[in-house]
Amino acid sequence: MTKFHVCAAADLPSGEAKRIESEPAVSVFHVGGEYFALADLCTHGDASMADGYIEDDCTVECPLHAARFCLRTGKALSQPAYIDLATYPVSIEDGEIYVTVESAA
Ligand code: FES
Repeated sequence: MTKFHVCAAADLPSGEAKRIESEPAVSVFHVGGEYFALADLCTHGDASMADGYIEDDCTVECPLHAARFCLRTGKALSQPAYIDLATYPVSIEDGEIYVTVESAA
């Protein structure tokens, strides 16, 4: 497991996401004071979830074919995706965001 520094919490406003070049790549999302980390690569195709559309109900819509995923659980909520995204723990320490990623290797 590796802990990655994402950015200062102040630099990730609500409704935005940031991609971390870990292995696998992870996207960290901020919605209304809550932070979530999901695998960045859509389970349906070659799209970065960091480029997706974040909704107030804590879901993200894939930018390529509009599948929706739950930010809390990674669950695939609509077609064409049916495989869930992996989730990762996020922590805030001294105003900085960190994500812990378990390598696929
Ligand atoms: S690549 Fe995400 S829904 Fe197709």
